[in-house]
Amino acid sequence: MAFRKDFLWGGATAANQCEGAYNVDGRGLANVDVIPHGKDRFPVMLGNMKMFDFDDEHFYPAQNAIDMYHNYKEDIALFGEMGFKTYRLSIAWTRIFPNGDEDEPNEAGLKFYEDLFKECHKYGIEPLVTITHFDCPMHLITEYGGWKNRKLIGFYEKLVRVLFTRYKGLVKYWLTFNEINMILHLPFMGAGLYFEEGENRDQATYTAAHHELVASALATKIGHEIDPTNMIGCMLAAGEVYPYSCNPGDVWKAYETNRDNYFFIDVQSRGEYPKYALLDLERKGVKIPFVEGDEEILKEHTVDFISFSYYSSKCASVDEKLKTDGNVFASVKNPYLKASEWGWQIDPQGLRTTLNALYDRYQKPLFIVENGLGAVDKPDANGYVEDDYRIDYMREHIKAMHDAVTLDGVDLLGYTSWGCIDLVSASTGEMSKRYGFIYVDRDDAGNGTLKRSKKKSFDWYKEVIASNGENI
Ligand code: BG6
Repeated sequence: MAFRKDFLWGGATAANQCEGAYNVDGRGLANVDVIPHGKDRFPVMLGNMKMFDFDDEHFYPAQNAIDMYHNYKEDIALFGEMGFKTYRLSIAWTRIFPNGDEDEPNEAGLKFYEDLFKECHKYGIEPLVTITHFDCPMHLITEYGGWKNRKLIGFYEKLVRVLFTRYKGLVKYWLTFNEINMILHLPFMGAGLYFEEGENRDQATYTAAHHELVASALATKIGHEIDPTNMIGCMLAAGEVYPYSCNPGDVWKAYETNRDNYFFIDVQSRGEYPKYALLDLERKGVKIPFVEGDEEILKEHTVDFISFSYYSSKCASVDEKLKTDGNVFASVKNPYLKASEWGWQIDPQGLRTTLNALYDRYQKPLFIVENGLGAVDKPDANGYVEDDYRIDYMREHIKAMHDAVTLDGVDLLGYTSWGCIDLVSASTGEMSKRYGFIYVDRDDAGNGTLKRSKKKSFDWYKEVIASNGENI
């Protein structure tokens, strides 16, 4: 057995991390635009520090990013040269509806993505579109409170109806919300949630999560109605949580932590809130704001496939002393693993475990839509980078996914590595945390020519794709 013949090899990006052009052609302001670089980034992403507009003291890396908005033809040509079968990108909601609550969409924004999708097809690249990758129009946050407000479901519904209609025949693979569980970890970045002092955070978070889950099911419904061949998936920030030891307390802690993440996919894939979550939320005093019809919508419109990002496994222990902060997920350091320069532990075997855990649980096709190594690259005078460390990381992860497919029988649709072209880091706002096969000349302060050049991994990945994952 090997990877399926139509295995979707490719790479992934997100609008706010690569497009730039934040105020061009009618685009409105989004939460992701106003997240600054520097020490205030985390408080803002967490929803603890109010930053609803730009100020003069901060640098906002998403404003210009790598300016893919004006360079997408060159970038897609390079993806084509690598032999990409798919390119995962996201729609900036504020290009389509600048404020989020308009009656009519912005034609310039719609046209931009239409041209981009056509450009992909020129090279035989199938677009894989994330409808929202962390972005929410600022106007919906300031006027309505973001996803805490049920009205957001209607605004999202309008957005997806426009997208599915306009891009029928151009896009087949869709993801409703990027890393939907990120709402628990980075609520402002993940879902535009800002918490007022004294606000019940659990209640606000799970209210917003419920609205996203209903919106996601509605998107699945509408997408299938408009084009029954559409394949609509959910997206999880995955990475199996291991027990730190065989202490039954650690084992249970790991089990529960895994379930906190699976909860979202349980709803999106099985169509109902799992009992364990309902009981847990009840104990926390959280009330899920169900309205009539929600249960049916969730039940009847489950996803076609499950996509996820995988960077690392995690560890859980009952011993509080072992806890480290991690920069997004609090975790316990696993003594058996090495880590990247940013402390993300490297665990290819964990990808096989994660694939199996998800497949056992849901029995639906899976799609790895993010994986990769964020590292400091040192280009020579021509912009060439000898990134053997990146090749090693990816080789081991591709081997692990090969095992999951060939030895364990996991049904895997494809693999898109994260940040196939260098872009702005979501967690740190840096450019120096690079993932790409293509180097982009830009530094953390936004200086540089934006010139693109191929790294050593470019040719390596090209061969991986050409051999359908056999020559690695
Ligand atoms: C995922 C996100 O969490 O991880 C991406 O979906 C993000 O947007 C990626 O860029 C890698 O994280 P970082 O912080 O290294 O950019």
